Amino acid sequence: MSEVPVAGKNVFVTGGSSGIGRACALAFAAQGAKVTIAALPEDDLAEMEKRDVAGNRFRCLGGDLTDDRFLEDINGDVRNADILLNSAGMAIAAPFLDNDPDDWDRMFAINVRATMRITLAAARGMVDRGRGHIITISSALAHAVSPNTLCYAATKHALAAMHQGIRLELLGKGVRSTEIRPGLVWHTKLGSQSTHPAVRDHATGRAYEGMDPDDVARAVLFAATAPDPIELDVIEIKPLGQL
Ligand SMILES: NC(=O)c1ccc[n+]([C@@H]2O[C@H](COP(=O)([O-])OP(=O)(O)OC[C@H]3O[C@@H](n4cnc5c(N)ncnc54)[C@H](OP(=O)(O)O)[C@@H]3O)[C@@H](O)[C@H]2O)c1
Repeated sequence: MSEVPVAGKNVFVTGGSSGIGRACALAFAAQGAKVTIAALPEDDLAEMEKRDVAGNRFRCLGGDLTDDRFLEDINGDVRNADILLNSAGMAIAAPFLDNDPDDWDRMFAINVRATMRITLAAARGMVDRGRGHIITISSALAHAVSPNTLCYAATKHALAAMHQGIRLELLGKGVRSTEIRPGLVWHTKLGSQSTHPAVRDHATGRAYEGMDPDDVARAVLFAATAPDPIELDVIEIKPLGQL
């Protein structure tokens, strides 16, 4: 059995302007894939639009993935994806008693609702064509909870359920689904979204360092290029020392 090449494939990456999504977009492009990125229209996305990776340019779609009109606009690109990488997300951590329910709404809107809507559009296209691969970046917190992360963990548990449901319902339709569960990753913007002092104290007490987004991208490429009859179901990847 040989690796399935990603060269020439349409890869759609949500949140591909930063962190893990960006590292994956660059890794797919380096392998010759045609990569489309959807992310907020910030400087990072403009920077990706200018990049040339081995002669490959990124198609960059700037917009808010929680906005249904933007989802309508990008529906054609999503349906056309051979590989969907769900990476867009946010994390606002705080002790439960200090939680602001508006933050729950924002996290569920992007981490769960937007991801599920995009996955639905992509899955319909893949089932029509009888092939495709849905790869979702959930988290090590998709099956656990750490202090101050109750709502974020709840959104990632939901993505784990989505992945399991896809595997059940699309069985025999030629669509692969992989859930990637990273532990702590540094050099992304996610970590700066939480300002509560308890979260900072918890972070300074850690006995291990975070991984690099490229470490996660390697796991994503491993799943995407797995020989055809093989489906990588769940990959959990953590820095040494993280429980
Ligand atoms: N960092 C970690 O330790 C870690 C661990 C496990 C899992 N994860 C998961 O990995 C994924 C990527 O996170 P990251 O650490 O790489 O963080 P990141 O650098 O903040 O990347 C998140 C990406 O999502 C985009 N995004 C957020 N909200 C959006 C919206 N409403 N519409 C469109 N795009 C939106 C961001 O766009 P902008 O840059 O323009 O805001 C950015 O491109 C997330 O799902 C996260 O939960 C992260």
